[in-house]
Amino acid sequence: TRAYDALMPLPKAELHLHIEGTLEPELAFELAARNGVTLPYATTDELREAYRFEDLQSFLDLYYALMAVLRTERDFEDLADAYLARAAAQGVRHAEIFFDPQAHLARGVAMDTVVEGLWRALARGRADHGVSTRLIMCFLRDESAESALATLELAEPHLDRITGIGLDSAEVGHPPAKFREVYEAAAALGLRRVAHAGEEGPPEYITEALDVLGVERVDHGLRCMEDPALVARLVRERIPLTLCPLSNVRLRAVDTLAGHPLPAMLDAGLLCTVNSDDPAYFGGYADDNFDAVRRELGLTDERLRELARNSFLASFLEDDEEWRAR
Ligand code: ADE
Ligand code: ZN
Repeated sequence: TRAYDALMPLPKAELHLHIEGTLEPELAFELAARNGVTLPYATTDELREAYRFEDLQSFLDLYYALMAVLRTERDFEDLADAYLARAAAQGVRHAEIFFDPQAHLARGVAMDTVVEGLWRALARGRADHGVSTRLIMCFLRDESAESALATLELAEPHLDRITGIGLDSAEVGHPPAKFREVYEAAAALGLRRVAHAGEEGPPEYITEALDVLGVERVDHGLRCMEDPALVARLVRERIPLTLCPLSNVRLRAVDTLAGHPLPAMLDAGLLCTVNSDDPAYFGGYADDNFDAVRRELGLTDERLRELARNSFLASFLEDDEEWRAR
């Protein structure tokens, strides 16, 4: 049987997905109308025209600006519910979902609003969409370490709903070590740890995320390929990487998808997964990314199955948990 079939996408886990990055233009306009927010675009087409990015920062500017439409619990619920429906249609059976509380707190939207709203949708994920979920709270690395600590404190009443912490936003100039203290505090609270590293930043940031922050999984990790000793370590320690091929093309971390290092990374023995990052902005959800690497990189069915298997291995699901039972 063929592993790849558009009507029957491979069952997979999505491990690198920013819920705010699933805000489609249509929903953005709907929420803007509902909340009386004026967007600086007349139509969804005009907004889509703005999705031409030079680098990570040019994307982040639009990503943070569009969040203005997210105001109430119901907004966050609708956002997450729409994502789960799309993900399920693309074979996603489990999703570990990032959210950026500081971006909402800065706009006067409370932690409770964000977590309660997302949770309303996620709690029904299994029943409504056949998707199990975890929440990972990210700190914005271009904000201060003190702000990250304060955010962790605000999240403490919600830790029954939050599995882990991550680190995202503008990478270069904001090395992982800046967040040593908050990662130590999170570990002491029993939270799992991941961090974006090596997307635009150098391989040294990957090493620092492992050694100083104690991350179990590296988000992106693309630039490890510049350091053979680091690759050898990641292979030896079985550290999963959550790659996002369409994101890498749109944010120009790679020149073309055909030139993406994924095949070389798999050949090197790295535990790679394929994910969608901010699918509303980068042109595709989980299986769109699988389909793109199949077409552009000529990955065999065996390789695609390996990527799907890796996604469950690299997830925070416990042994014998829900996906095995299916
Ligand atoms: N926030 C949302 N998407 C991101 C990405 N790809 N890198 C860093 N921060 C992000
Ligand atoms: Zn990301």
